[in-house]
Amino acid sequence: MSSRLEQRIEPELEQFIQNGTYKRLNYLSSPQGARVQMEDRGEVIMLSSNNYLGLSNEPTVVAAGKEALDRYGAGTASVRFICGTFTIHRALEAACARLVGTAASLSFVSAWNANEAVPGTLLTEHDLVISDQLNHASIIDAIRLAKAMSKCQGAVYQHGDLSDLDAKLTAAGDRRVKMVITDGVFSMEGAIAKLPDLIELCRKHEAVLVVDDSHATGVLGKHGRGTAEHFGVVGEVDMITSTLGKALGGAAGGFVAASAAVCDYMTQRARPQLFSNALPPTVAASALASIEYLEAHPERVTTLRENASYFRDQLLGLGFKPLPGETPIIPVILGETAAAIRMSDLLLKEGVFVTGFGYPVVPQGQARVRCQISAAHTRADLDQALAAFRKVGRQLGLI
Ligand SMILES: Cc1ncc(COP(=O)(O)O)c(C=O)c1O
Repeated sequence: MSSRLEQRIEPELEQFIQNGTYKRLNYLSSPQGARVQMEDRGEVIMLSSNNYLGLSNEPTVVAAGKEALDRYGAGTASVRFICGTFTIHRALEAACARLVGTAASLSFVSAWNANEAVPGTLLTEHDLVISDQLNHASIIDAIRLAKAMSKCQGAVYQHGDLSDLDAKLTAAGDRRVKMVITDGVFSMEGAIAKLPDLIELCRKHEAVLVVDDSHATGVLGKHGRGTAEHFGVVGEVDMITSTLGKALGGAAGGFVAASAAVCDYMTQRARPQLFSNALPPTVAASALASIEYLEAHPERVTTLRENASYFRDQLLGLGFKPLPGETPIIPVILGETAAAIRMSDLLLKEGVFVTGFGYPVVPQGQARVRCQISAAHTRADLDQALAAFRKVGRQLGLI
């Protein structure tokens, strides 16, 4: 007999299947990489992972995790301020701050948690937070939570529209703290936030600028230092949040990078910090090794950029119209959700893993397949994937 809850959710699950929006999990039996072993599919080319620098299976990154397991064991077995914090966390936090160009940083078990902590911890009922319309779900939920908990005000500005933001900041009048939050790179579009303009506007209004650089850390800028390096403004962003679960080894974890005072305050007050365990030491060590690898091998970032621009140019040459951009996120808009899922299924049959995204992850009618390029891809990987795109594109009458 199903419970009332199951009676409610089972028809919804059935509806997802009918609508073609049901998400089936693909199981991998190999490490993440340019090519992976997918259960029941064999080897497939991976164009759907955030392993931008190909570090998730880099030998020094894996070895660092193993050594940390031997040295520190599995974990702290409680929250940091209660039971102690490992020296590897301190080393990681120094490296994160150094990488993105702030005085300090504080790690969290995910960037979701890091984002969740920022407005809820730092704002009060006298304050205001303004968010870009296309910000990541973790920022949207962080603001919902902050509004409920701290009673701060919230507002949303049109995506990338600095005059709308200017108007909203002006309307905020004498709010004590004004916080503006934006993604550095918008994950569904691959668009880059107009950081120099945002910095100028925030200075004009004495607002705090927070940039979620999860898709830019390790990706943008000559040395992979993120959106600020891309625009030559390292050190000028008040707060940067980012993930350790993408370019920096891909395991898990996130951080808030900011002034020493802000990080100290977060250590004192951030609820995901005070009431949840620290990153496992294996993960902290692998992330630290990833940052050290990146610092020693900036050429990985160059390879990533060259691979992304090659793939984008070739797609255009085939007759596809990917969204314009300069990041390794290359979306091809298809319209309806079912069309995106169908293309993704056909590509998978050709041995290429590209996820289709539909509403509500992206706006209605703008469903897409999103290619993500890695420095780990060889030209042979990319050419094989492009051959699959040509075949499937013709089959679907797209090119
Ligand atoms: C822009 C952005 N912020 C935050 C996150 C959350 O990252 P994490 O997996 O570390 O929680 C993601 C992950 O998809 C993201 O794309």
